[in-house]
Amino acid sequence: MRHLFLVLISALVIVGCNDDKAIFIAGNPTWQNEYAGIWKSVIGTPASINLLSVAGIQPKVEALEKLGKPEFPLNQTDIKVEVRGGKTYLQFPLEKEEQIYGLGLNFKNVHQRGKIYRLHVDHYGGRDNGRTHAPVPFYISSLGYGVLINAAKYIDIYVGTGLRKDSKTPENPQDRNTDKDWTAAPYSEIVEVVVPGEGVEVIVFAGKNIQQVVQRYNLYCGGGYLPPKWGLGFWQRTPTLFTDAEVENEVDEFEKHNFPLDVIGLEPGWHSSSYPCTFEWDTGRYPNPGRFINELKNKGARVNLWLNPYVSPESSLYEKIEPYTGTHTVWNGIVPDFITKEASEIMGAHFNKELLAVGVSGFKVDEVDGFDQWVWPDNATFPSGLDGETMRQVYGLLVQKWSNELYKARNERTYGLVRASNAGASSFPYVIYNDYYRHEDFIIALINSSFSGVLWTPEVRKSGTPEEWLRRMQTVCFSPMAMINAWADGTKPWSFPEVYEQCQDVAFLRMSLLPYIYSTFAKYHFEGIPPFRAMAMEEGFKDIGKASSSEISSDENPYAIAVKKEIKDQYMMGESMLVAPLFKWNTKRDVLLPQGNWYDFYTGKFVGNGEIVQIDAGLDKIPLFVKDGAIIPMMPAIRQTSEWKEDMPLEIRVFGEKDGDFELYDDDGLTFDYQKGEFTIKKLKVLNGEGSIENMKVDGSWTYGDVSWNFMTK
Ligand code: GAL
Repeated sequence: MRHLFLVLISALVIVGCNDDKAIFIAGNPTWQNEYAGIWKSVIGTPASINLLSVAGIQPKVEALEKLGKPEFPLNQTDIKVEVRGGKTYLQFPLEKEEQIYGLGLNFKNVHQRGKIYRLHVDHYGGRDNGRTHAPVPFYISSLGYGVLINAAKYIDIYVGTGLRKDSKTPENPQDRNTDKDWTAAPYSEIVEVVVPGEGVEVIVFAGKNIQQVVQRYNLYCGGGYLPPKWGLGFWQRTPTLFTDAEVENEVDEFEKHNFPLDVIGLEPGWHSSSYPCTFEWDTGRYPNPGRFINELKNKGARVNLWLNPYVSPESSLYEKIEPYTGTHTVWNGIVPDFITKEASEIMGAHFNKELLAVGVSGFKVDEVDGFDQWVWPDNATFPSGLDGETMRQVYGLLVQKWSNELYKARNERTYGLVRASNAGASSFPYVIYNDYYRHEDFIIALINSSFSGVLWTPEVRKSGTPEEWLRRMQTVCFSPMAMINAWADGTKPWSFPEVYEQCQDVAFLRMSLLPYIYSTFAKYHFEGIPPFRAMAMEEGFKDIGKASSSEISSDENPYAIAVKKEIKDQYMMGESMLVAPLFKWNTKRDVLLPQGNWYDFYTGKFVGNGEIVQIDAGLDKIPLFVKDGAIIPMMPAIRQTSEWKEDMPLEIRVFGEKDGDFELYDDDGLTFDYQKGEFTIKKLKVLNGEGSIENMKVDGSWTYGDVSWNFMTK
């Protein structure tokens, strides 16, 4: 009831309780300024558990302040709320030229206007309907604001589909038979949301452009995760039931083939029993895990372990954890309730002893998303009091937070995989993946991940042809996790000898770009800028502000057309690199270059400016373009980050004619000491064709030595 009074009812319709204590509220919510550019409204009586409380977010206040103090970005009287019949109904305005982005990890659409979703954590089933691995209830408008519905429930959202009788801008009905402009989806001026429950917390984020809205969201959630350096090297996951000898042999093969390898992932078979899991080593296949992991470390490879968190009756954990598990089982394994301190501690102690203490570097937490057929139903209950629906929405968050803390307590950074997430996950060390495997849609997921504070890998498994294999290898090397997942197919980078050299080239290119990529992730951590970003976040969209795009002349801003164009097949990596992947059947493609001069990464040659160019890239390379003034720091193509030591020669590539700068970040690459200020940033600068380096902060490791400037555009 306390929250009820936080709602100011401007139009004062009805507020009160009837005899059954049902709540009725209707009016405009009031907004409290939480941090610079961020407002919250607590409407009615929200559930005590929400997405951000589960994620345990710790906003980066200073970084938020640096972004300035904008005004509330919407007309407050256009935001309406009603609480009735046990549900909360929200309305937000939508202008005619406005585009909406976000709403989680969708695989088909980048533009969300006109879509209807029920946001529900699930394995992606081939249709964008809200059921996905990270159905984050956060949307971002092209007009420079974002709305987060902070509820751990199945949320319905109608993005510009409903038409209301009381519309401020009613349109005249048209006759379908005689009017060629008739449309089945006339202009709707609202986003409508239904939240089950008698209240909800809503958070609004302002921004001068889409990227800044997302930055605020990520900073509010604690800033993005900075992976350990080894996490950004190449990953290989071995087939199920592999033995220690087979894994060691696999690592040797990578060395023989001279292919990058930093992490080896073990799939089902390392546990004494899986589906459900014991979280104890199989003594037949892994008689001495400590020796095995050490052996791999000596070969420069870290170990990541597959698991799902459902506890097998064969595990020594079973009896201890049983009181802290839900009413339902998954594959006859019990489901720990990580909201309870006890479950977290019991699981934590077991993991520490069996796995972390022997040197395991991280996990792949599988199957926390669902498939209704095997995960708990909504009527399940958990000892913490959570219902099945809420637990479904937050289970991915819970395991991420819990496991991250295990590593944090050891002052070790981890990096791993997870199949479910939700709002609040920006600072967690996890990358999402799935079994869906459509290459084009994997790129869309990568684009969409940038709106939702999550990371995504377009992992490579198998391919029908060498071309497809190479294309997939190229894109995965330009993603947050460069990985082959050979659990079922036993593929290796050299599975298609016809294209092996090209695969090697792109993997080594990623390795030499690590100075650029690592600094990109540092920006994610400190400033909330997504490392892999939708084109909609790029310059050219940025000044659209409150003006509708019809007011912007396309002569002045050629890229304004792109607000209308849905860009699904290209994205940005870091500040200045545009990645335009190709799919198996083509060597040519169109690339949309934002305003400003753009250059070919490989040759430094001018390619275009604010236009769509057709490129003929051939098969060997993934098309990469860089902005005018771009500075790309690179280092020698090492095979493993264990070779990334002091005095790495630094090659600084410079593109175009404009002056530019780049903040090169460095630290120990392994621990959380950077959070205590132990890091170094040096500004690489180009002024009138001259390069220089300026110390910005020198308080931690600096692993670079000799510097050479390479002006690529002659
Ligand atoms: C799937 C997962 C795959 C692989 C497999 C092992 O659920 O998505 O990547 O780990 O399980 O059984």
